[in-house]
Amino acid sequence: MAISHQPVMVDEVIQYLITIPEGIYVDGTVGTGGHSLEICKRIAPKGKLICLDIDSSSIQLARERLSPFGDRVKIIKESYVALDRLLKRIGIDRVNGILLDLGLSSYQLESAGRGFSFIKDEPLDMRMDEARGVTASELVNTLSVEGLQELLRVYAQERWAKRIARAIVEERRKGPITSSRQLALLIEASIPAKYRPRKRHPATRTFQALRIAVNGELENIADFLEKCPSLLVKGGRVVVISYHSLEDRLVKQAFHQRKKENISPRKLPVFPDANPSLMTALNRKGLRPGHMEVNVNPRARSAIMRVAERTYNE
Ligand SMILES: C[S@@+](CC[C@H](N)C(=O)[O-])C[C@H]1O[C@@H](n2cnc3c(N)ncnc32)[C@H](O)[C@@H]1O
Repeated sequence: MAISHQPVMVDEVIQYLITIPEGIYVDGTVGTGGHSLEICKRIAPKGKLICLDIDSSSIQLARERLSPFGDRVKIIKESYVALDRLLKRIGIDRVNGILLDLGLSSYQLESAGRGFSFIKDEPLDMRMDEARGVTASELVNTLSVEGLQELLRVYAQERWAKRIARAIVEERRKGPITSSRQLALLIEASIPAKYRPRKRHPATRTFQALRIAVNGELENIADFLEKCPSLLVKGGRVVVISYHSLEDRLVKQAFHQRKKENISPRKLPVFPDANPSLMTALNRKGLRPGHMEVNVNPRARSAIMRVAERTYNE
């Protein structure tokens, strides 16, 4: 299968992530392996790359693509939230760099057949890990009007949350909502024509909110950020690319914690592993892709990359 996903901000990722070519690196969201391919080309034969993803079909594609690198790469179906346990299991204490490229890949959007997109009519599933959790269809068919409204407000800041929530509950009285097109059409109809956004489909925000809720995306990021400092060697780096303001806010808060709490580096707390303040943000504002990249790859438009380095020993 031809791989449609173009990795975002590749040069910047390589520049910040790889501090020593012989190091051990983790791509926590390997997807179809775009970033990992470039990382593999840059690390030494003695270096290692551990790749994780929770989407079996993406993992399969990444495996084929990264096979020329042999033992240098280890690809495992696992959540990046479980990286601490995984490293322990495979006998690695700490790593030199971790990459998270959040969100959804173009492959998942276009070809996974799980209702991430409303361009094609697909079953309303939206789970990245098909073996686990509640589907988007289960959420839209069981949540109350208030529950749906809250979901759309919190995860998507959807102005028409109340109308959409009511329309969903009304529709499901006739029968369950099971397909992406069915949901998209009903969202479109629930927003007054003159207020429908012109540049994107009116259902875009709702779909994004459902995906975030179904996959526990914000909880996962928060969980990872808390553990992250204890997984890195001194001088090791974490690179996170976010596509949503709520994701980026979590990353920013974690990386800038020391500043916020005004803790002097010399007065670090007694339990350093549990404290993200061991990290120093390497870019205050976050990096954005250049115009050229956005022109070639419109998906990069909303990307923001933040990097932090583990600067202190315990
Ligand atoms: C934007 S894509 C990554 C694309 C990849 N960097 C590339 O260049 O091909 C995000 C990936 O993160 C995966 N993902 C989402 N949540 C995850 C989690 N908790 N643990 C591991 N992977 C996750 C998704 O399945 C998806 O494949």
